[in-house]
This record gives sequence, structure tokens and C-alpha cells, in this order.
Amino acid sequence: MYSEKVMDHFQNPRNVGEIENASGVGTVGNAKCGDIMRMYLDIDDNGVIQDCKFKTFGCGAAVATSSMATELVKGKTIQEALEVTNKAVMEALDGLPPIKVHCSLLAEEAIHAALWDYAEKNGIKIEGLSKPKSDISEEEDDEEY
Ligand code: FES
Repeated sequence: MYSEKVMDHFQNPRNVGEIENASGVGTVGNAKCGDIMRMYLDIDDNGVIQDCKFKTFGCGAAVATSSMATELVKGKTIQEALEVTNKAVMEALDGLPPIKVHCSLLAEEAIHAALWDYAEKNGIKIEGLSKPKSDISEEEDDEEY
């Protein structure tokens, strides 16, 4: 059911933890499954993401997608990080079962929420970034999970 990469990132998640005095922190949740994801970004003066850590209280796919998302945004500029969509995360993991797609959406939203926090703290506007919802469940179809 799960690709080897998903299993690997679930069993050996990369970048688990917190960043003290992070440039931006974002927390998102999905009310339907109750899973919560928190993302920490360390962004330097040139707008490059030097470090990224996460804490996820959720399912295996949520752990795997947040782990992969941190790997994908590290070393990227803010604009490049915005291109790390849930599809990009899923592709990097060699796919997810359809009922687990919302887990990857949580990872995308967590990155956006952390970037939003960074922008607010610094009084800047990030082009292409809109205020993330803290609860993303409303965006989904009413499927059974
Ligand atoms: Fe909800 Fe995976 S994040 S089941």
C-alpha cells in the first residue's frame, strides 16, 4: 500500500524537532482526522531556508510527508519553497494512497503557515502566499476516511 520511500520517511523521519527562535513557525490541523503538524523554519538574511524542523502528531503518512517536506524546502529560497506543493511532496515519496492525500496537504499548509508567520514577524509580503487556514479540513471533499 505504501511506497518504500513513505515507509522509510515514516520509520526514520528526517528533521524531527524544534528550532529555537525560529524565523517562522506554522501549525496546522485537520479536524476530521485530528492530526496536527507544526513546522519551524530558519531563514537567513538572503531569504534562504537554512534549516527546517517539524513535529507531527498524526498518522504515518503525515509523518512521512512532513519529513519529506522539510527535506525539500531546506536550502531553498522562500519563492522556491512555495513551489513545494503537496503534489511535489507526494511525487518525491513515489505516491500516496488516495485516502492519504490530505496528509500531504497538511505538509504544504504547514510550510505556508510557517512562511506566513515569518512574513508577519518581518512586516513583509510574500508574493503568491495567502493566509493559510489553521484547519484545512474544509477544503476537502466529503469522503470517508
Ligand atoms: Fe489525517 Fe493522515 S493527516 S490521516
